Amino acid sequence: PPPGPMGIDPLRSVAKEMSFMTSNIRQLLGSGHPMLDTVSKYYTQSEGKYIRPMLVLLMSQATQLLPKKQRKWSQEQGGIDTPMTPPGVLSDTNPSSPLTATSEDGLGDASVLPSQRRLAEITELIHTASLLHDDVIDTSISRRGNPSANISFGNKMAVLAGDFLLGRASVALARLRDPEVTELLATVIANLVEGEFMQLKNTALDERHPEWQDDTISYYLQKTYLKSASLISKSCRAAALLGEHPAEVVEAAYQYGKNLGLAFQLVDDMLDYTVSGSELGKPAGADLELGLATAPLLFAWRENKELGTLVGRKFAEPGDVQRARDLVVQSDGIEQTRALAQEYADNAARAISSFPESEAKVGLLDMCTKVMKRRK
Ligand code: FPP
Ligand code: MG
Ligand code: MG
Repeated sequence: PPPGPMGIDPLRSVAKEMSFMTSNIRQLLGSGHPMLDTVSKYYTQSEGKYIRPMLVLLMSQATQLLPKKQRKWSQEQGGIDTPMTPPGVLSDTNPSSPLTATSEDGLGDASVLPSQRRLAEITELIHTASLLHDDVIDTSISRRGNPSANISFGNKMAVLAGDFLLGRASVALARLRDPEVTELLATVIANLVEGEFMQLKNTALDERHPEWQDDTISYYLQKTYLKSASLISKSCRAAALLGEHPAEVVEAAYQYGKNLGLAFQLVDDMLDYTVSGSELGKPAGADLELGLATAPLLFAWRENKELGTLVGRKFAEPGDVQRARDLVVQSDGIEQTRALAQEYADNAARAISSFPESEAKVGLLDMCTKVMKRRK
């Protein structure tokens, strides 16, 4: 990423961490079956944005100086009032323990715990699994500038590879030996499916006579939370939990992730209207083609009820997609979406305002600005 003001790149603090993450992820995805190995690693070859693991690493660093919760059994610090480590519990000398630093970990930043690094990998695995499944559901043809996995290997292998990623993510999660973190990330997987179902079967719309309703936007936002913000917010929360921080810090990390995640998806839905496919690395205008009414269209519909007819038939008649696009572009739906995203981005920044000043905090705040400026 380009250096920020005064030549300081706020993401520099995690740059080294990030370079090891991808190779660790590929290691987690190894399979004795050569074809499964290939399909599972397919999306790890292309240049992903790695936003979720980067946020986990930045959150881990930014909370590092904050107070730690008093825990009965503290594994890392042998402070004077820390009782003796109970025998056999998460011994750091167990070679199979994930809390044991890998050879790469030694080169990373000491402020990030090995467990937080593993969490960063887990979030990326869950995200990538959801993309494998999503591209099958959306009959997508490209992802990150390459043919999507369903195109390269077919639906069956793409779905199975997604399941394999979830399996390996679950193994990595279990190895953290933290029931609360396990519960959070398992809930994320369920939330992703719930969000996708809300999108598939929009119970807030009567499909024959859809009418604008007071809950049209809130249904969309709930769906958006489940589909996009749940993973980001609960990963940030889990990072703070692994850092053994008290409830206020854990909650601040969660609020940051939730608001940034909502802003992120609102911008995503906006870019589908405003940016070309070649810039996006995936087809633009895909949402209308899929029959999906996202924020720009919903805001346009509120002002122009003519869109209801098109929403009702999911833009399926010839000319519907173009007509809907024209009406959205002529309306202030895109601008309203941007304004709402900006509100969430501001909330995200506010959530961590009391964190101590650090390079990682600058990085987290920078993400709130970047999310509004991104074009892909
Ligand atoms: C991308 O959205 C997709 C998601 C954020 C989540 C999809 C979730 C599932 C398919 C549920 C099942 C998956 C798992 C792993 C539990 P998009 O289609 O709006 O974005 P795109 O333009 O990048 O495809
Ligand atoms: Mg998709
Ligand atoms: Mg989708």
